[in-house]
This record gives sequence, C-alpha cells and structure tokens, in this order.
Amino acid sequence: MHDIRNVLELARKSGAAVGHFNVADLVLLKAVFSSAQELDVPVLVGASEGEREFMGVRQIAALVRSLREESDFPVFLNADHTHTLEMAIEAAKAGFDSVVFDASALPFEENAHQTKGVVGALKAINPAILVEGEIGNIGTGSEIHQFAPDLSKYLTTPAEAKQFVEFTGVDVLAPAVGNMHGMSQKMVEGESKKHLDIERIAQIRTAARVPLTLHGGSGTDDEDLRQAIAAGISIVHINTELRVAWRSGLEEGLATEAHQVVPYKILPFAVESVKQVVLERLRLFNHRPQVPAREKTDAASTARERQEVS
Ligand code: G3H
Ligand code: ZN
Repeated sequence: MHDIRNVLELARKSGAAVGHFNVADLVLLKAVFSSAQELDVPVLVGASEGEREFMGVRQIAALVRSLREESDFPVFLNADHTHTLEMAIEAAKAGFDSVVFDASALPFEENAHQTKGVVGALKAINPAILVEGEIGNIGTGSEIHQFAPDLSKYLTTPAEAKQFVEFTGVDVLAPAVGNMHGMSQKMVEGESKKHLDIERIAQIRTAARVPLTLHGGSGTDDEDLRQAIAAGISIVHINTELRVAWRSGLEEGLATEAHQVVPYKILPFAVESVKQVVLERLRLFNHRPQVPAREKTDAASTARERQEVS
C-alpha cells in the first residue's frame, strides 16, 4: 500500500519534491495521472473547494482511489484550500489522503486556533490523514490576474512558522516565501517569472521541522524552483499553468475537429496540451532530464495521430 508520508520522506532524501496538480475534470485528471505514470514518479492530485463542488467530493475520491488501486501507483488526493471545518470533515470522510486547511486570511492567532481544531477533528476521523496549515498572504485565485499584488510585507518568518507548527500540530506547512497564486498575462507569455526567497525557505524549514509546500507554483522561475526544493520545499502546487494549457488544447481540438461532436475525439487535444505542462514540471521537481523542444512538438501532435489511426 502506498503511503503519502513515505513518499514525502523519500522525496526529501533524494532532494526532490512531489508535484501537486489541481484537477477540475477528467481531462486534467487523465493528463496528471498519465504524466506521472510515464515518468514513474509519485503525484498529488489536488481539488479545491470549487473543483470539488464541480466534480463531487466522493466522486473525485472514488476516481483517484480506483486509479491507485488498479495500477498500484502512488497517486494521492488532496483537499486543497479548505476554508471551513465542515468541508474539511467532508473530505476526510470521503477518503482524501490530505487536507489543506486555509485560514490564512484570518489574524495569525485565530488562524492557529482554527487550524489546531481542524487537525484534531480530522485525525479523529483518519489518524493517517495529512493536514497542512497556511500562514502569510500569497493571494487567491488560480487564474490570470490583471495586476500582480505586492505581497512582500506578508512573508512568513521562521519564528511564526515554528510557533504555528508547534501549536497546531500540522504535518505540513505552506509559508509565504515570494510565491503567489495565479499568473499575470506577462507570465503566461513567458515574459515575466515569479521569484522566491530561497534563504527564507531554508530558515523556515529548519525552524518548522515539517515538510513545506510551495503554493502558487505557476510561472515560477525554473532555477528558483530547483533551489527552493534544495532548501526544503517538499510539495509544489501547480494549477494556473494547467488551466491555460487546458483551454488552449481545447481550442485546438475544436478548431481541428471543426464539425466533430464526439467528446472523446476532441478532448484528447486538451489532455495532450495539459500533459506537456505536467511532464515538464514533474521532470524539474524530480531531476529528470528536460526534453528538447522538437520532441515536445512531436508529443503535442500525439492527439492528432491518435485521431488518424482510430
Ligand atoms: O493550490 C493551488 C496552487 O497553489 C496553485 O497555484 O495557480 O499559481 O499554480 P498556481
Ligand atoms: Zn494554493
């Protein structure tokens, strides 16, 4: 049986991080799971409150469980950015492997008190469940933002991280270290990158003594990500990059199959498009060699080739 704690421990020992990718439909789930299988690396599937509402809490749990059982592959399900105790309990009861309880919009003390309560309640349902807490401000919304907010005054300090972890008993901590949810249009076009405070990550990891998650991974500079992982980041969340790829793949499918109405002849374009992003990110997080651009183009045409032979 695959164990999420072992996976995190192994990743840390080998200087890697586990990729966490949000899904809102079967296209995204297929892309995430098949990318991880192709590279033979563990993966976390994330579903936020909105994504869970769309897919169904028990339905996404059943899907991921069936993938893990059928393939005996280390794929885990995380209830991302959960804002209430009720929603956290619902996810735990549905069989999620981990829950991110996010009360980071509240004052530090209130956040700590609520998070401690959630840790107790979830462990009573499933002692093996992993609970993550969040501190600092990294903005909201895995989408394209018109203006990137200046969040530099809300960065997490090592002292806060230590106090929060010791008080709440969280298994994993998500700090604010220069990261931000979502992307600007310039980031989507590759003209601008997010940068991280690597020294702060290393100090927080030493002080907190639990695995750290980097939220808001989309659009982050590759070298910063490598250094962040070396400094103590164990999980990296990516969402907006997948959503951008999902949309462009879907548009390609609709344009290529202009008169097609069969979903499974259009949607593979979106799966392939998302896969290219997931594969690239997983290679980076797991120190796998990057694929030259020509091969990427070849891979992007896989959906079309599949169409031709079917
Ligand atoms: O929890 C989700 C992530 O933190 C995703 O952030 O949309 O900037 O990749 P992102
Ligand atoms: Zn996040």
